[in-house]
Amino acid sequence: MNLLIDKLKVCRSLVILTGAGISAESGVPTFRGADGLWKNYRAEDLATPEAFARDPKLVWEWYEWRREIIRQAKPNPGHLAIAQFEEIFPEFLLVTQNVDGLHRLAGSKKIVELHGNIFRNKCSKDGRIYQETPKTDSIPPRCECGAYLRPDVVWFGESLSSEVLNEAFVKTQSCEVFLSIGTSAIVHPAASLPLLAKERGALVGEINLEPTPITPLVDISIRGKSAEILPKILNHLSFNLC
Ligand code: OAD
Repeated sequence: MNLLIDKLKVCRSLVILTGAGISAESGVPTFRGADGLWKNYRAEDLATPEAFARDPKLVWEWYEWRREIIRQAKPNPGHLAIAQFEEIFPEFLLVTQNVDGLHRLAGSKKIVELHGNIFRNKCSKDGRIYQETPKTDSIPPRCECGAYLRPDVVWFGESLSSEVLNEAFVKTQSCEVFLSIGTSAIVHPAASLPLLAKERGALVGEINLEPTPITPLVDISIRGKSAEILPKILNHLSFNLC
């Protein structure tokens, strides 16, 4: 950890990639751990456009269940530390795969949500965005055009927003330090970002409870809970705050 802290003390540009593990201490289930969502549910039945076309009510209700869990959750010290990093580094970007919105609640502003946001909806036909869920008896609710609304998240088999992806790649290419936090680093294109950063000469660090496929490639690997490790790192850097 000391090597990472020393590097961060002199670094001007930091990119952070987060995954479900950053929200674990907030009580939001991860996807692939022992109690991960994909251990108990099949992504093919719940997180694909085909699943929604087959059974829109089932998919909508599963997302409503997840929304309810997330509504109860609060940002943890890991989210809060990352929001503070934004104040320290002149060049900063937070790239998250999470759809739970907890980074924004913690105060992060320089953020791209690669996989969308679970509280936003969009029309399954014309793509029109609804920031809030319309009050209606229809499950799922319907767009003004009559088609069903769906959560504005990226499902398996769908493309990510090119604008969002482009910003993540551009900042990753030029950062001095890249941190991959609480992600299993197996879902692309997010998982390509640490590799790209490494290729472009950044120091790449990882914070995770367990080894991941990128562990052998990163410069610094820190084992443990992000909600405990990130505040410790922040403590060493806080003197940089204006
Ligand atoms: P995963 O569930 O695949 O991985 C979570 C990672 O966080 C694992 O490597 C855990 O070891 C680690 N972890 C768990 N608790 C932690 C903690 N307290 N501190 C640090 N690390 C911890 O979640 P993601 O990598 O985010 O995509 O999954 C990527 C994508 O796959 C998700 O965005 C989602 C999913 O299918 C879509 O829905 C499109």
